[in-house]
Amino acid sequence: MAPKDTMDKLVALCLNRGFVYPSSEIYGGIAGFWDYGPLGCEMRNEVKAAWWQRMVRDREDVVGLDTSIIANPQTWVASGHVENFHDPMVDCRQCKRRFRADQVDDDDRCKASEDGRHDLTEPKQFNLMLKTRIGASDDTAIDAYLRAETCQSIFLDFKRAMQSARKKPPFGIAQIGKAFRNEITPRNFTFRSREFEQMELEFFCPPDQADDWFEHFRERRWQWHLDMGVDPEKIRWHEHTGDELAHYCQRAYDIEFEFPFGWHEFEGIHHRGDHDLTAHSNHSGKDQAYTDPETKERYVPYVIETSVGVDRTMLVLLCNGYTEDEVAGEKRTLLKLSPRVAPVKVAVLPLSKKIAEPAERIAADLRRRFNTAFDVTGNIGRRYRRQDEIGTPYCVTYDFDSSEDDSVTVRDRDTTKQERISISALPAYLSEKVLGY
Ligand code: GAP
Repeated sequence: MAPKDTMDKLVALCLNRGFVYPSSEIYGGIAGFWDYGPLGCEMRNEVKAAWWQRMVRDREDVVGLDTSIIANPQTWVASGHVENFHDPMVDCRQCKRRFRADQVDDDDRCKASEDGRHDLTEPKQFNLMLKTRIGASDDTAIDAYLRAETCQSIFLDFKRAMQSARKKPPFGIAQIGKAFRNEITPRNFTFRSREFEQMELEFFCPPDQADDWFEHFRERRWQWHLDMGVDPEKIRWHEHTGDELAHYCQRAYDIEFEFPFGWHEFEGIHHRGDHDLTAHSNHSGKDQAYTDPETKERYVPYVIETSVGVDRTMLVLLCNGYTEDEVAGEKRTLLKLSPRVAPVKVAVLPLSKKIAEPAERIAADLRRRFNTAFDVTGNIGRRYRRQDEIGTPYCVTYDFDSSEDDSVTVRDRDTTKQERISISALPAYLSEKVLGY
């Protein structure tokens, strides 16, 4: 299938089945903003919970924070974003459209010129931070920014979090939260949005340990994506060199995924050195250096960062899972999502309305552990297809023998194989399959 067809079909599936909708659609939408529907919001919560479990709760050396979206605007002066967080922008003198200078597509024709070519201005630097005004009256209101990355507040709270959690370097602070960028050309569905969510870890360590922690987190993050079911053939490393390196980075690697529209970054592992804590020390006048109580050694901790978008992870998992195959001569579409992130873990399907009641009791019991669907409408084949299309890994069928043998049939989404399981063993059986314990 042509990549564009795959993307068109995936976007249609997301819209029709309730994963992603354009924001404020009845007013024509707004470029770069998206809403997550009932299934999308379940799946996002699962992605965030899986990341939090692995990056915070499974580790003794990481704590979490939840900071405000708007911080004192001096934060962004100190971080270098006011001065450096720019993309090059060009305008077409003919059709007046605006592009990111490094992303003008040769296939994109100008509608106002005879030869279809854009007549582009010289690149201008365009700051990506979204501004807002805070304060009740025009003369006292101040300009502020919606955060462009979640990590800056982690640096601002570094000392408080370290002291209150009784930690010392090496240790990390993690956060999941919204970030905003006034992207010049939001595109490729949710890939480049103006409002998105990040999952970031800032790991503070003595300078001489930074290279080892950098490798540690490169390995851990790669493995997490494999554990989420991403095809290892579809991800690769990209090391940043020269001008590619962001103003705060000493070293950086992206993890890229092969989307239907090409290879693109969805996570960055960054060696930020002491850039951030030094910048905030100098700008605020509040010393952010750390003194080891035992050795009395005083140093500004180095930071290793892992930064991944929730929305891009969702898009990776959806593109990675989108599959078309044939079962018993019939075409089907399925989302091969890992059970860990699938929005619905199990669907209970009574074979007939006449036996809906006992099946409903099974669904109510499973709901205490998993997001469980109950579907009694349509023939069983069509009900299986509906669940396959939204990525439900297991369907439980209650049939006319179930009341006799106290058993149900469990069908696996990917293989379509069926197994007879006793009703009393069902919750433990599904826990093992879905949660791994
Ligand atoms: N604190 C470091 C930082 O923000 P980044 O490479 O600019 O680094 C990290 O962003 C991740 O945030 C990206 O890999 C991507 O997953 C996500 N991201 C960045 N800009 C985005 C956008 N406009 N839309 C959706 N996700 C975005």
